[in-house]
Amino acid sequence: MRREELTKIILPEEKIPKFWYNVQADMPNPPAPGLHPRTKKPLTPEDLTPIFPMSLIEQEVSTERYIEIPQAVREIYQQWRPSPLFRARRLEKALDTPCRIYYKYEGVSPVGSHKLNSAVPQVYFNKLDGIKRLTTETGAGQWGTALSLASKMFGLQCIVYMVRVSFQQKPYRRVFMETYGAECIPSPSEKTEIGRKILREYPDTPGTLGIAISEAIEDAVQCAETNYALGSVLNHVCLHQSIIGQEVKLQLEMVDDYPDVVIGCCGGGSNFGGIAFPFIPDKLKGNKVRLIAVEPAACPSLTQGKFAYDYCDVAGLTPLLKMYTLGSNFTPAGIHAGGLRYHGGSPLLSQLYHDGFIEAKAVKQKGIFEAAILFAQTEGIVPAPESAHAIKVALDEALEGKKAGVARSIVFNLSGHGHLDLTAYENYFAGKTKDVVISEQEIQDNLKNLPVIG
Ligand SMILES: Cc1ncc(COP(=O)(O)O)c(C=O)c1O
Repeated sequence: MRREELTKIILPEEKIPKFWYNVQADMPNPPAPGLHPRTKKPLTPEDLTPIFPMSLIEQEVSTERYIEIPQAVREIYQQWRPSPLFRARRLEKALDTPCRIYYKYEGVSPVGSHKLNSAVPQVYFNKLDGIKRLTTETGAGQWGTALSLASKMFGLQCIVYMVRVSFQQKPYRRVFMETYGAECIPSPSEKTEIGRKILREYPDTPGTLGIAISEAIEDAVQCAETNYALGSVLNHVCLHQSIIGQEVKLQLEMVDDYPDVVIGCCGGGSNFGGIAFPFIPDKLKGNKVRLIAVEPAACPSLTQGKFAYDYCDVAGLTPLLKMYTLGSNFTPAGIHAGGLRYHGGSPLLSQLYHDGFIEAKAVKQKGIFEAAILFAQTEGIVPAPESAHAIKVALDEALEGKKAGVARSIVFNLSGHGHLDLTAYENYFAGKTKDVVISEQEIQDNLKNLPVIG
């Protein structure tokens, strides 16, 4: 078979990258330093040791271009990596487009998403530091599931604070986490001071990732043997996900192709950063590849937020990070793409977006479900609602290419499958999905609460 006829582009296991790629080494403007939540002075590594192991703190600030992936982590990656890159031939045909559409399928991991790529090294480095218990937040449930499995692999206990609306929408996610031996608690909860306070003030709150993060951190700081793990946003998480884009580059080489456009959905920015950041060095050399981050119109932190210092959580326990934000107390509508309901974006991604290396698009819910269904009916995979945001923009790009008579090469990250998100599809079929858009006024009102720096 000729190389360009391949549908499933597979790398052998020995091609799993041996290093993570650190975009910090190549950024013309480095990300602004994190600030201490109380003193508002630049963070020191010691500020972070109550919740993170030193190796992850080092990765957070490292400017080394390549960081070696430990052998123990690579051995675990071997179960699902390298993940396949598919050529979406039936989708292309349905769109009657001259464009070549590829998708990198991260749903092949045992938990069904890219999140395990970071969960495994995070638990590994915590284990090396003698940590026995990890707390975390989860929105859609994908990150919580990934950390639950990785914790079990290394013999750590795992406590997951799950955003209440997702806990209710996705009951089987809780069972999934419990199957791996984790404890899953709907957030806000009675377990923490911040959870009790929010429940008193807003008993019906759907919860937010910002609240769940506060609860997980409050829990972690109380015990020396407990650390906290974050599933997105931070530099070390984007670093771990860089294996996605590194593999994509090798896979496209196998079919003599190179993308015109690389697309990923964007919650905190880790799967997008994972597929897109390895292309930044090419852009710096003058390559015209476009990198597009896709967010929900219901939570448009990149397209309508402000580039400013903000907390990652509601209680103000986390460091202040300079990022595009809607304000840490922003409560997005309870859209099904729970993993994209985050008020801010990764500082690396935010800086690169600010500097014009990355584009961002916001899409509405009904359009993403239409795209998801066309994708499922042609390619067979039912995508996670989060990933469907990337599909929607890939379709738009392919249709624009058709209109302009240009055969673009389009790659998107299919960050996870939607097998546990079928309620979202059921609601769409029942006509219950709403196109949530927030007004500029609402955004500006919320941004008035941003912390004042210096
Ligand atoms: C399948 C899937 N894709 C994407 C995301 C968004 O996160 P990130 O922006 O860190 O990739 C999530 C988060 O939960 C997810 O579950």
